[in-house]
Amino acid sequence: MKTINQLLAMKEQKEKISMITAYDYPSAKQAEQAEIDTILVGDSLGMVVLGYDSTVEVTMEDMIHHTKAVRRGAPETYIIVDVPFGAVGIDHSTDMKNAVRLYKDTKANAVKIEGPHVTLIEGCTQIGVPVVSHLGLTPQSVGIMGYKLQAGSRAEAEQLIADAKAVEQAGAVMLVLEAIPSDLAEVISEQLTIPVIGIGAGKGTDGQVLVYHDLLNYGSEHIAKFVKQYGDFSNGVEALKLYNQEVKSGAFPSEAHTYKKKVMGETGK
Ligand code: KIV
Ligand code: NA
Repeated sequence: MKTINQLLAMKEQKEKISMITAYDYPSAKQAEQAEIDTILVGDSLGMVVLGYDSTVEVTMEDMIHHTKAVRRGAPETYIIVDVPFGAVGIDHSTDMKNAVRLYKDTKANAVKIEGPHVTLIEGCTQIGVPVVSHLGLTPQSVGIMGYKLQAGSRAEAEQLIADAKAVEQAGAVMLVLEAIPSDLAEVISEQLTIPVIGIGAGKGTDGQVLVYHDLLNYGSEHIAKFVKQYGDFSNGVEALKLYNQEVKSGAFPSEAHTYKKKVMGETGK
């Protein structure tokens, strides 16, 4: 299993980090066989596996149930579990209790929290719960932001840079950036010490994440621009290996899988 220090070293050595979602025993087993660096038990679970309309309906019990299965399938892979909507952002002690429960009950290596919850990240870090932060498009806020490119103006880009620095400062061990201009994602990846994993954020990040069902064309209803399909379940391990190779070589994401918008300008760096 990769440790957080090994993942940090990969960033330093400019070795790209691969991440795939998994929600059950067989998908986790395939990810581990394909030697993907990290698995995310995303709350996308709710949409791609459970048939919910959005991730808002996903419960703590859903996440715990599925993450336990993923751990059984991938005992040797670094696993991150999503904190579902409503489990944090209430009050500090409720938030902490839920983060701790998710970490402890699932044997995940880290919990992922959407949004710049700096105080919560500090609290978790202080007691030893590793937090992966998730900024940019945060699907739990679909009712406010919709599903579209985020940080498309210079002012929003500057705010995102500030938030990214704040979550790193608070102790986040990694950052996921979703659906933002690729030049902005590159700047943030350069300015942070922690690994930055992108989805719909171009090739300038320290790693890439895709949703398992999108990558394998397994019942996905809406395929976003940034998704690349590599095969289907029958050749799942091969498809995941190819994805892994393309992340490492930088072949994925290509221009075709990247938003064209630039936000930082010539002097952006
Ligand atoms: O739930 C999920 O799958 C995610 C990734 C898309 C980053 O949060
Ligand atoms: Na998620």
